[in-house]
Amino acid sequence: MNENIIKELIVKAFDARKNAYAPFSNFYVGAALLCKDGSIYKGCNVENSAYPVGLCAERNAFPSALCEGKTEFEAIAIVGGNKDEKEFDFCPPCGMCRQFMREFVEPSEFKIILAKSEDDYIVKTLEDLLPMSFKF
Ligand code: THU
Repeated sequence: MNENIIKELIVKAFDARKNAYAPFSNFYVGAALLCKDGSIYKGCNVENSAYPVGLCAERNAFPSALCEGKTEFEAIAIVGGNKDEKEFDFCPPCGMCRQFMREFVEPSEFKIILAKSEDDYIVKTLEDLLPMSFKF
């Protein structure tokens, strides 16, 4: 994947993270989803007083793109950490998000960029993170 696009996705994921609504966990997550046509959709986590109602950043980004008629996806960058964190660890997507994304992508082709910063990231495929995935 083109390094400039990866960096742009990471910047946008950090941007989205600023708008996270996570007063219960204080864990702020941002995601930037790259569609095959080059458009990018952002998502952040949005928690709820009724805890299970909360939504992850990844599961906010995909519906925004789907609502605009996007159906083909290339990659997603994900960043996350405690609200006031300055140094980040990688924030791999939760199991539910892995399965959610699987519905819309080819696992061996779809890239998941996990980033600590613009310059410190790893690129996985969904197949790496969710082998032998379920879809019918
Ligand atoms: N979270 C995400 O947004 N994405 C993930 O894949 C992992 C977890 C959010 C959910 C919750 O608001 C907070 O992080 C702590 O679990």
